[in-house]
Amino acid sequence: MIYAANFKTNHTRKSTYAYIKALNEKLSVKKPDDKVYIFPPSTALDRYKGDFTIGVQNAYPAYNGAYTGEIGLEQLDEFDIKTILIGHSERREYMAETQEKVAVKFAFFQEQGFEIIYCIGEPLEIREKGFEAVMKYLLAQFNGIDIHYENLIVAYEPIWAIGTGRSATVEEISTTHRALKKVINSKPLLYGGSAKPANIKEIASIAGVDGVLVGSASLNAESFSQMIL
Ligand code: 13P
Repeated sequence: MIYAANFKTNHTRKSTYAYIKALNEKLSVKKPDDKVYIFPPSTALDRYKGDFTIGVQNAYPAYNGAYTGEIGLEQLDEFDIKTILIGHSERREYMAETQEKVAVKFAFFQEQGFEIIYCIGEPLEIREKGFEAVMKYLLAQFNGIDIHYENLIVAYEPIWAIGTGRSATVEEISTTHRALKKVINSKPLLYGGSAKPANIKEIASIAGVDGVLVGSASLNAESFSQMIL
């Protein structure tokens, strides 16, 4: 299983250090096959040591340059960051990242050999239209994306399940993952949306779920480690 913690706009550099120290103590007993990723805010990026991979939540598709407020490859290289989240619904919605922009970012970081956790997910009004509408919406989020890229991990995060405390049902996750797996073949497929210690066993047991991308329940090292161990 893959366990990825997306801190979003939470934690400071100081609290990320404390978090990683606490998590490291727990991870000494994790199963060797399980992989852990942490996506702290950009201000907390560093060369942390431990049995996990640090990734960046976002970056601009350039080495460096005049892109006020953004960070590029130069800033990631400083900390050997080689993993990035692309296409998260919050960036698509709040930062108005269109599919075209997402695809440009994907192509840039693919070219750099980054491991990409590529996020897709439908809003509630699409889910309410039924499964066919859901799949049509999700497949459109692969437009311009090289789904054969070797370092690709896909994360399915239904928007209505993010931060709401209500995860998708086993049936919803299972049918959606089964359909997505046919499209992305052997690529790992994560589920995200209110994954937490109370439902991780159930989610992890669903066929086609290779891991979880966790927001709220990852913010506390104790809660996140409970999910992993
Ligand atoms: P929550 O776990 O808070 O629902 O967030 C999921 C998510 O968006 C992870 O990227």
